[in-house]
Amino acid sequence: MKKLGEISAAIVGTGFIGPVHLEALRRLGVRVSGILGSSPEKSQKAAQDLGLAKGYRDLPELLADREVNVVHLASPNRLHVSQTLACLEAGKHVICEKPLAMTTSETKSLVAAARKHPELITAVNYNIRFYPLCLQARAMIQHGEIGEVLHVTGSYVQDWLLFPTDFNWRVSSSEGGALRAVGDIGTHWLDLIGFVTGLHVESLLADLWTAHPVRQQPVSSVGTFSGKLEQTKAATKDFPVDTEDYGTVLMKFEGGRRGTMSVSQVTAGRKNCLRFEIAGTRKSLAWNSEVPHELWIGDRTESNRLLMADPSLLHEEVRPYANYPGGHQEGFPDTFKQLYRAVYSDIQAGKRSPEPLYATFEDGHREVALCEAILESHRSSRWITDIKGRM
Ligand SMILES: NC(=O)c1ccc[n+]([C@@H]2O[C@H](COP(=O)([O-])OP(=O)(O)OC[C@H]3O[C@@H](n4cnc5c(N)ncnc54)[C@H](O)[C@@H]3O)[C@@H](O)[C@H]2O)c1
Repeated sequence: MKKLGEISAAIVGTGFIGPVHLEALRRLGVRVSGILGSSPEKSQKAAQDLGLAKGYRDLPELLADREVNVVHLASPNRLHVSQTLACLEAGKHVICEKPLAMTTSETKSLVAAARKHPELITAVNYNIRFYPLCLQARAMIQHGEIGEVLHVTGSYVQDWLLFPTDFNWRVSSSEGGALRAVGDIGTHWLDLIGFVTGLHVESLLADLWTAHPVRQQPVSSVGTFSGKLEQTKAATKDFPVDTEDYGTVLMKFEGGRRGTMSVSQVTAGRKNCLRFEIAGTRKSLAWNSEVPHELWIGDRTESNRLLMADPSLLHEEVRPYANYPGGHQEGFPDTFKQLYRAVYSDIQAGKRSPEPLYATFEDGHREVALCEAILESHRSSRWITDIKGRM
């Protein structure tokens, strides 16, 4: 068993989420050797701003750094496949941001590469699994407390792309993948529901819609989520949009159980709002990421309850992932710390645990396969029923 202090990480991506990885690693006690941006200058600046020793010139220089055991990939989606393959070839453990890649031919190659290197831990950064009350909902379902799951409804909605003047690389399919709202936030919902309920989607029917077919692209680049502050200043040009702002998916899970998911990046006032409601044969569970410390437990024959996150009220297996006493709310940044707690514990042990809590490359592949089925269903206006065969 390696000590945490013997492990060192490096981060690729200096934008919105790379520094979130760094902060979580620091809180966990993992050493971070350096960071890589899109140019040597950006790497140097980020290293300086973030107090890191090294700003790498390029990926080969990062991979040649013998001090680095683990690479966190927080770069745009189009780079995930090549960067992940290079990391695995160089013998580094990899935590790749979601979605794992742009297409299933890419994700399949990553699953194969991970299997070729069982000594390396590989994970996809589906952090929402690690809200204490999402882990608790999963534990309650596993303990049979809500009975059998009948159906799931929910959504993931945001407002940061509401105006046609809002822009980000995700808007272009060549940068982010053919699906945007579904690929970017819908896969979080799909991953979470599969994780919490243990159910896999078997067939689906999808409808997608682009509210703004033309957006204003700033002539210089705009950081993720920062457009709200910058849009009035930047010079822009017309950009024809080939990705969706909105999507709804009807799903059938194993055993005929039903589900519905809606996603939108144009819902005013919803900043980053994932909701689910799971109806069981005895009880229901509902949760909202904007109020993450509350889990609603619905009952037909007794009063409904509101469970507040408090380690003493959670199932024993969930407690290690809730580090603050009740009332001291844990939120988005904490989910990264708890995800890395699970991944680094496997890195320390030198092998993947039998049923890891974190998303594996197989899980990452499943979400991208669902994205492709969703796009095919939308384009052909029909149910896609062979999802199992695509995994
Ligand atoms: N888990 C989550 O909650 C979450 C949240 C946001 C983003 N993400 C994912 O993280 C990834 C990055 O998203 P973001 O919002 O931080 O984007 P961003 O645009 O804010 O940052 C991307 C960074 O990658 C850098 N980059 C570009 N080309 C590079 C190259 N060749 N080598 C190294 N770095 C390069 C850019 O300079 C930039 O710093 C995406 O895959 C996204 O889906 C996940």
